[in-house]
This record gives sequence, structure tokens and C-alpha cells, in this order.
Amino acid sequence: TTVSTVSTTENSFIKKLKASGRSLVVFYGSQTGTAEEFAGRLAKEGLRYRMKGMVADPEECDMEELLQMKDIPNSLAVFCLATYGEGDPTDNAMEFYEWITNGEVDLTGLNYAVFGLGNKTYEHYNKVAIYVDKRLEELGATRVFELGLGDDDANIEDDFITWKDRFWPSVCDFFGIEGSGEEVLMRQFRLLEQPDVQPDRIYTGEIARLHSMQNQRPPFDAKNPFLASVIVNRELHKGGGRSCMHIELDIDGSKMRYDAGDHIAMYPINDKILVEKLGKLCDANLDTVFSLINTDTDSSKKHPFPCPTTYRTALTHYLEITAIPRTHILKELAEYCSDEKDKEFLRNMASITPEGKEKYQNWIQNSSRNIVHILEDIKSCRPPIDHICELLPRLQPRYYSISSSSKLYPTNVHITAVLVQYETPTGRVNKGVATSYMKEKKPSVGEVKVPVFIRKSQFRLPTKSEIPIIMVGPGTGLAPFRGFIQERQFLRDGGKVVGDTILYFGCRKKDEDFIYREELEQYVQNGTLTLKTAFSRDQQEKIYVTHLIEQDADLIWKVIGEQKGHFYICGDAKNMAVDVRNILVKILSTKGNMNESDAVQYIKKMEAQKRYSADVWS
Ligand code: FAD
Ligand code: 2AM
Repeated sequence: TTVSTVSTTENSFIKKLKASGRSLVVFYGSQTGTAEEFAGRLAKEGLRYRMKGMVADPEECDMEELLQMKDIPNSLAVFCLATYGEGDPTDNAMEFYEWITNGEVDLTGLNYAVFGLGNKTYEHYNKVAIYVDKRLEELGATRVFELGLGDDDANIEDDFITWKDRFWPSVCDFFGIEGSGEEVLMRQFRLLEQPDVQPDRIYTGEIARLHSMQNQRPPFDAKNPFLASVIVNRELHKGGGRSCMHIELDIDGSKMRYDAGDHIAMYPINDKILVEKLGKLCDANLDTVFSLINTDTDSSKKHPFPCPTTYRTALTHYLEITAIPRTHILKELAEYCSDEKDKEFLRNMASITPEGKEKYQNWIQNSSRNIVHILEDIKSCRPPIDHICELLPRLQPRYYSISSSSKLYPTNVHITAVLVQYETPTGRVNKGVATSYMKEKKPSVGEVKVPVFIRKSQFRLPTKSEIPIIMVGPGTGLAPFRGFIQERQFLRDGGKVVGDTILYFGCRKKDEDFIYREELEQYVQNGTLTLKTAFSRDQQEKIYVTHLIEQDADLIWKVIGEQKGHFYICGDAKNMAVDVRNILVKILSTKGNMNESDAVQYIKKMEAQKRYSADVWS
């Protein structure tokens, strides 16, 4: 638990709204920053319609004040809410979610709208936003505009701007605003260059507290990561051209604890070459010490990232320079084109016309062009570096399923990560930020450390060791199961009765990417593990874990239906996890004599009992 140092007046968004003559508040439930970014864009756009807005983090607000929104004339609360994992709210929206779920408050007079951020490849698409939108109405609030749903698997930027484009006219209608709706491009932060600031006051990559990387002090969390030494970094693939890393981190002395199934988050840094390139393209001196200061003095966010700092640090540690830029960034970039044709091209691509959307899809998304590529290819576009720093999203930590058991390794955390690297249609090679960063962290070159924190998960072994388990984890989906198997072995060694431990693993080729093969075979030999493998590319036709599961229908039913065992899936959310779930439905219906909807209900019940869990990512 963290001790809140925020005083109640700071928690009061109503006071802030009133004091600054605002009527629009945009709350965000964000895990990776996208919902926060969308919230910021909406709040900023309010000005176009004479609705001064502000963004707010529900975790830092007294949300019961929603009852007082009606006291502010023509006020509106917008919620940009992401759905995570198994249909869960984000960490920062959890308390709010529970409050509206359980509370019986009267929200009559509250005007609201909801935009959801989700991913269709997941089971519970946009569950949180759908629920909040419905629940607010139940509690008496007035929906000003229909719920918007964004699908991150397709084109969430498109979904958002399309929704936004109809949202604003409805808002104007509702409140009787005769907005010109004219686009005002406005800086939200002003630049302050600080050549004279004391060197020891300059942030060098800390996430929050100055010098926190030098003076490490627990508790360690997302704002205060622990610098863990990389003690092992070895290649798991034996061929095939791709790379999968096995990394061991030393967390001794950190007081951080973990359980098998938890995630470790890592703050990476950007590629130095790319940072220098971006500096050159913006004609910047990267050593300049500066601050970006919010022009809105009431905002709780004084700076977009820790300031003062240098441009080099900002581009290296604080900003997502390789992400695919969203349309509002293109709109701002257009202003810095000296060539009218370039300006028109960017403006068009940022527009919501079908032609513009198609251009954005092709030229930006499908071509995987990041900010550096855009500036390289649009030669007359030369934005000032400080504006780029204002526009780019914050660099996010990356999560990894811990691949060890704390029973065996209480002070070590193991990671199993595939290097992201791919050629783009423009002939460039794009490299994943975190995995490329990790790749370089070789303990052989001396002490190397990475900033990390642990995030608890719901992905857990059964509390009773005798309960049998089925794990489906192809590719890096094996990661948390390696921890599970270690733990079951440990319990067995300690004399405990351990139920069947069945793993379905799949990879391309037996001799290339069968990760942890020797370990797994050892577990099979000593009777701890039943291993089923699918090698998809060792023969003409594909063999996947799903095929094996289908063949093993009797076994699956015995473990799940008769022995009340647990079922786990980990890995690719897009195809694999969905296919596995569908096969399970099929097995339950045929072997368990259920119709399809009963089988679906059966899995839902298993989920509620924590007998069915997924740890999947896209
Ligand atoms: P980034 O710089 O973030 O780049 C990745 C992005 O590049 C992708 O999102 C995609 O937009 C784009 N991209 C990638 N390939 C292509 C392509 N071929 N064409 C076009 N675009 C492409 N990963 C593991 O390896 N092991 C784990 O155990 C693991 N556990 C996870 C657990 C959770 C809960 C979550 C959310 C994720 C997990 N991941 C895991 C994924 C991991 O967090 C990172 O997303 C992954 O390592 C890539 O990070 P990166 O910074 O290297 O790449
Ligand atoms: P493929 O790449 O040859 O198609 C780990 O990524 C393994 O999972 C690979 O062997 C991959 O096969 C396989 N795989 C791909 N799609 C899958 C799916 N829908 N279900 C199960 N396994 C899949």
C-alpha cells in the first residue's frame, strides 16, 4: 500500500473546475497511456466549443464529487476507459469502478459520455466502458452522447476520431452551444530553457523522484523502479533466425516479492542512434537543459515528464519515439512544413475523410512509420524539438510474465522474451524498444542493471497442490508455466502430493525454437510433467497445440469435468487464445453433454472460481 500525500483539496476536481471556470472534466482509466492521451485530446478540444476542460485521474480524485457536477452549469464528465486482462478496469480506475458498481448514489443531473478502449481479440471486449456507460444511466445520470468503442486490434485512432467527430456536434446541440468548431492548435506547455540550472537538479531518467536511481529506497513500484542486476542473459533458440532471451534478474535487497504468475515490468530506453537522428532532423542541440511547463497552472500535471532535463534524456528515457504517431500529431506537424504540398499531405492524412483515413492507414500504420521516418520522408517538415517532446506519448514500461518460481528463486526473477525486430515496407528495420534494450544487457561486460517493478496478477496455481492442471503455452506463452512447473516440482520434492501437471507447448521447429527443452524433458523424466508438443513447421501441414487438445478431448474432460482441475492459457491473444477457448467449448459440449451455451456458461463459472485463467497479450 502507498501512503497518499495528496490533501483533500487537491483531490477535489470540483473545486478545480470551479476555480478555473471549467465545465468539462475528462477522466481516464489508462494502463499504457492511450486512454490518458485520448482524454487529453478531448479536454484540449473543448476550447473550440467554449467548454474549458481538464483531464483527471480517477485515482487522484474524490469521485463522490460526481454528485456535485450538477452545480456547475452546462457541465460534462467524459470517461475514457480501457478494459484490461480478463475484462478488468485499469489499476487507476479500479476504485471508481467498484464505487459505481456497489454504490447506490443518485447521479441525477450529471451529464456524461463514455469512450472505451479495448481489443476485440480478447474475450471481454470493452467490458468496462460498456458497463460504466450503462451503470451511470442506471444511477440517474444523463448520457449526452452514445458510447464509443475503440478496438486496438484494428484501428483505435480511427474509431476515436470518428466518434469524436460526432460527439462534439451532439455536445453543442445538447448544451445549445453555437460553436464555430474552428480548429485551434495550441501549445499546452511552454518551453523554458535553463542553461544555469544546477547539474544535480537535472533529471537523468528517473521516473519520478530526483536521484531515485542513485539513492534507491523501497518500496519499489511503478514510480520508483528497482535497479536489478542482469545476472544471466542467454539465447534460447538454436536456429531459425529469431532470438528468444532467457534473462535472470537479481532482486535481492529490494524487498520485492513475487509469486509464480506475476508480471515484471521494465522501463527500457530508446535506441541512441534513433535519438541522435531525431535531434538532427529537428536541428536541436540535445544537450540543452529545459523544462516544459503546463500553461494551465491549475493542472495537476505541471510537466509532461520530469523536468528540468535535457532533450537527449527526454528522447531517450521519457518519450515513445518509435510508436506510430496518432493523427493529432500529424496535424501539428503540418504547421511546420515549408512546402505547401507536404502541409496538405499531412493535414489530409489527419482528417476524418475516407481518403485521409486510408492514407493514414497505408502511409503511417501499414508502413510502420514512426516520427523519425516521417521527418525523414517529409523533408520540408522541421518542427522544433520542444514541440515534439510535448506531442509524443510517454515511454511505457513493458510487462513480462515471470518465468520462475519464488519458491526456488526468491531473489531472482526470470524473463523469457522474444526479440522484436522486423523490416517495414519502406525498407527500414524497426526494433522493439524493450527487447532490443534487453538484448544489449550482457552481464559479461560488467554490472548491468535494468529498472523494474513487480505487478501482481490473478494468474495463480491452485492453492491445493493435488489439484491437476492443464497449461497451454506455445512460444513465449510457456513463460509463466515454467514458474508453475518449478513450483510443482518444489512441492513434490518437499513430499507434497501433486496432481497431474500437463503442458501443451508449441513452436515452429523442434530443433530451433523448442525453448527450455532440456529442462522440460527432465521434468518429464522424473514424473513431474506430462508434456505435449506441437511443432508447426516440421512437416507439410501445420500442427498446433489446438490440434493436440482436440485429440485429447477425453483427457481434457477428465481433468476439468471430473477432477475439477484448473485450465490455463498463456501467450498470443490474437489467434491462439481464442482458438483454444473455442476448442474447449467444443470438448465440454461433446464430452460433458452440454449444448454450446451451457459450455460457454461452464467456462464462465470456471473463470469465477479461478479454475480457468488466461495470461495473454497481443
Ligand atoms: P515495442 O517497441 O513495444 O514494439 C512492439 C510493437 O511493434 C507491437 O506492438 C507492434 O505494434 C509492432 N510490431 C511488432 N512486430 C511487428 C511486425 N512484424 N510488423 C509491424 N509491426 C510490428 N513478451 C514476451 O516476449 N514474453 C513474455 O513473457 C511477455 N509477457 C507479457 C505479459 C503481459 C501481461 C503483457 C501485456 C505483455 C507481455 N509480453 C511478453 C509482451 C511485452 O510486454 C512487449 O510488448 C514485447 O516484448 C515487445 O516490446 P518491445 O518494447 O521490444 O517492442
Ligand atoms: P506458426 O508460426 O508456424 O503458424 C508459437 O508461436 C507457435 O504457435 C508457433 O508454432 C505457431 O505456428 C503456433 N501458432 C500460430 N497460430 C496458432 C494458433 N491459432 N493456435 C495455436 N498455435 C498457433
